[in-house]
Amino acid sequence: MQNYPYVITISSEKGGVGKTTLATNLAIYLKAMREDLPVTILSFDNHFTIDRMFEFKGQKTGKTVNDLLMGEKAASLVHTGQYGVGYIPSSTELGEIHERFKGPMTLTRLMAESGLSGIVIIDTRPDLNILTQNALYAADRVLIPIKDMPSLDNCKNIFALFDQRGIDKKSLVLIPCLIDSRIKFDGMFKDLKTLLRAFAANRGYRCMDTHISKSPKVESLNTNPDGKIYPILTHARWTEVHNQFTEIARDVLRSLDTTPESRSCLYARWLAEKEDKKKEAFQARLEGLAERCLICGASLTEQPQERGFYYETSDRASRGFLHSDCFADMLCATLYGMTSDSQAFGAARIVIAEKAAKMISVLAPRSADGGYQMDFRQFDIAGQQHFQKDFALTGFAEGEFDRINDRLYLLLNESLAGYEGKLREGSWLAVHPVDTRNPEMVLNDECYRTIHQVHARIGEQLAI
Ligand SMILES: Nc1ncnc2c1ncn2[C@@H]1O[C@H](COP(=O)(O)OP(=O)(O)O)[C@@H](O)[C@H]1O
Ligand SMILES: [Mg+2]
Ligand SMILES: [Zn+2]
Repeated sequence: MQNYPYVITISSEKGGVGKTTLATNLAIYLKAMREDLPVTILSFDNHFTIDRMFEFKGQKTGKTVNDLLMGEKAASLVHTGQYGVGYIPSSTELGEIHERFKGPMTLTRLMAESGLSGIVIIDTRPDLNILTQNALYAADRVLIPIKDMPSLDNCKNIFALFDQRGIDKKSLVLIPCLIDSRIKFDGMFKDLKTLLRAFAANRGYRCMDTHISKSPKVESLNTNPDGKIYPILTHARWTEVHNQFTEIARDVLRSLDTTPESRSCLYARWLAEKEDKKKEAFQARLEGLAERCLICGASLTEQPQERGFYYETSDRASRGFLHSDCFADMLCATLYGMTSDSQAFGAARIVIAEKAAKMISVLAPRSADGGYQMDFRQFDIAGQQHFQKDFALTGFAEGEFDRINDRLYLLLNESLAGYEGKLREGSWLAVHPVDTRNPEMVLNDECYRTIHQVHARIGEQLAI
């Protein structure tokens, strides 16, 4: 799993259950127990516990977790901090980022593209906002601290989120935290952790074998004259919490070792496959293109830089490129009866060509009274109509050329021909301007999708 991290998210809607203590100390234990394992920690909360704990005095840190969420590669944001733990500095600006985080899988993708290895630990805010949700779905393991019945009750919201998305809930593990071992009960449930564990089991929640005891020593670690936060490993080694963290870290390492491919790794593969499919689709579109300009009949490979327009029929059966000049000349003739020897041809052609280079030209022939009528329109790229002209296609039905429209007839016959010399009923032809330096770009997934969106809008307007 080189370059794909195993992600652990610590989450609970309740504050004060020990999330941050668990996240930070787990990072330290993992690193201490396996020196060569990269461990990185980051927080979606707006306090700076992580920074206070891991930052070396005077360490220069510029970018934060905010930059990660804006799309910067995680590996470039990690600082090696104290105890050998890597951290991404916290940010107070995450509140505004919600808007961009509409999708629940964005962080999974960012982890897949992070370039990080080893373990990433994510501490979250005490709510289930979109960032927390992203952190939940990105995780190979979600640790949910519970300290009492209300926090146990709250777990159901996390489980419900996984149900809604149809994600396997086996990554979710509860862990009893801040357990006061002095509290004893009579009867079957002799203490708090046994009671919480029994309730969890009753609801079908998986619970970790280890719990974390409440310890005054641990509580005191973030209150001291230096304003520092000390780790349990270095400052509370003789407490039972130390042994419990050792157990938890061991448990995490076991599941890391038995996970052949982390979620980020699987997601990266899925992304690559999607990318391959896009490439294939692009290739297939390229292969479906006509080899010649349907107006002049010349092969398009000879002067490829002249390809200025892309045409596609509404039924997608025919598509290809047209020479810039061929299409402009054709429009001059068709719309205004102008040929190169007409008066003021040059000036008129410039205007017509400029307009065609900005608009989507639509040619919709219709059969009427045994002949054909042309409905010509121009739309802007949003599908808003700007121009319309009707004219008769004289002689077209009979297969005769009328000189002025010869080129148009060729184009229509080649692209819209149907059965027995008739045109395909209801089909029309759209001609899009393309970038002559890279006409094929129009066949990219995104461009191609936009074309079909605007075709749908045009189709609605033609039908009226
Ligand atoms: N095992 C523990 N024993 C005693 N106090 C603890 C323990 N773990 C955490 N605390 C204290 O409980 C408070 C809340 O812990 P914290 O980790 O910040 O929770 P959260 O991140 O869920 O809000 C802090 O003051 C912390 O020092
Ligand atoms: Mg916290
Ligand atoms: Zn041509």
